[in-house]
Amino acid sequence: EAIEKGGYDHFMLKEINEQPRSIADCLRGRLNAAEGSLTLGGIRDYLRKLRQADRIIIAACGTSWHAGLVAEYIFEEFCRIPVEVEYASEFRYRNPIIHEGDILIAISQSGETADTLAAMEIAKSRGATVLGVCNVVGSSISRVSDAGVYTHAGPEIGVASTKAFTAQLSVLSMIALKVAQQKGTISDIRFREMLAHLEQIPAKVEKALKSEEEIKNISGLYKDASNFLYLGRGYNFPVALEGALKLKEISYIHAEGYPAAEMKHGPIALIDEEMPVCFIATRDGSYDKVVSNIQEVKARKGKVIAIVSEGDVLIPKMVDHVIEVPNTHEAFMPLVASIPLQLLSYHIAVLRGCNVDQPRNLAKSVTVE
Ligand code: G6P
Repeated sequence: EAIEKGGYDHFMLKEINEQPRSIADCLRGRLNAAEGSLTLGGIRDYLRKLRQADRIIIAACGTSWHAGLVAEYIFEEFCRIPVEVEYASEFRYRNPIIHEGDILIAISQSGETADTLAAMEIAKSRGATVLGVCNVVGSSISRVSDAGVYTHAGPEIGVASTKAFTAQLSVLSMIALKVAQQKGTISDIRFREMLAHLEQIPAKVEKALKSEEEIKNISGLYKDASNFLYLGRGYNFPVALEGALKLKEISYIHAEGYPAAEMKHGPIALIDEEMPVCFIATRDGSYDKVVSNIQEVKARKGKVIAIVSEGDVLIPKMVDHVIEVPNTHEAFMPLVASIPLQLLSYHIAVLRGCNVDQPRNLAKSVTVE
């Protein structure tokens, strides 16, 4: 096992550090920014259906559901196709309205999650086209799909999903860009720019990993917290949800992710000097709004950890701790901004003496209801 961990203390840490490579593996042979080409062989025959789709339904569970939420923002912005993101477990029992022109995209690391599989079967039986985004080749979900795109992140052993999540984001981004190109909802120049941004993500993730020492220090300060709040807006809202999920999964600290603007409708009541609040506050369309949300938390003496874009000079003056990440297009920021949150949950869990790779009560793949 020590050999399999490749010198790391845990599989989770190994998998976090593998991301520059796993994302590059996921993009390899598909995306070539210099040539302006993007090829997704697995769904080639379904691209017409995708661009003509009236609606895309995304069904998933856990971390994969968070990847689906990011995809909703990307598909709606670039493809102008309405997207609904569903917890597979709710969707399957709700007698959902499904039309023949609908496309359901199932996202799953393992490809074996029972609820996701059942959601696909319902959609299929009602005439929808079902596509899969899976990590495990030959898995049940990949077999039930009409077609799909593998994430190629390599085996993920740690129960808390890390590299599979960023590979899912990479695949979903590529699908959205391809559909947008075919639909004509993105200009050629913009398409090429987006490919270039995506191609640079592995190097940016590599750079984001360099904050580990700083994150370790911050982890030491907050390891005994009983609650954590994660806030973000826009593309960073699902990042907040995923950051909170990672922390509760492996450190057993209660954590909630929230859209930053919704804070005033509830979570703000929890804020006092004991409450660490992690803001995902990178430079994007909602930056100014997030800055005011940070001020609201500071006015109530909350402790703020902010994930900011490299070179930000405003937020560091307002908050307790900052972690810089390289800049990219806001649609791809979740790929970069998730990295410090994975490391934060990892180090807090280690300091609390938790079993990081096999947290209590959780399974890597939930094959029963
Ligand atoms: C379990 C795992 C999570 C995962 C979820 C969905 O809860 O512990 O890490 O996100 O299942 O799994 P899937 O394999 O379908 O992505």
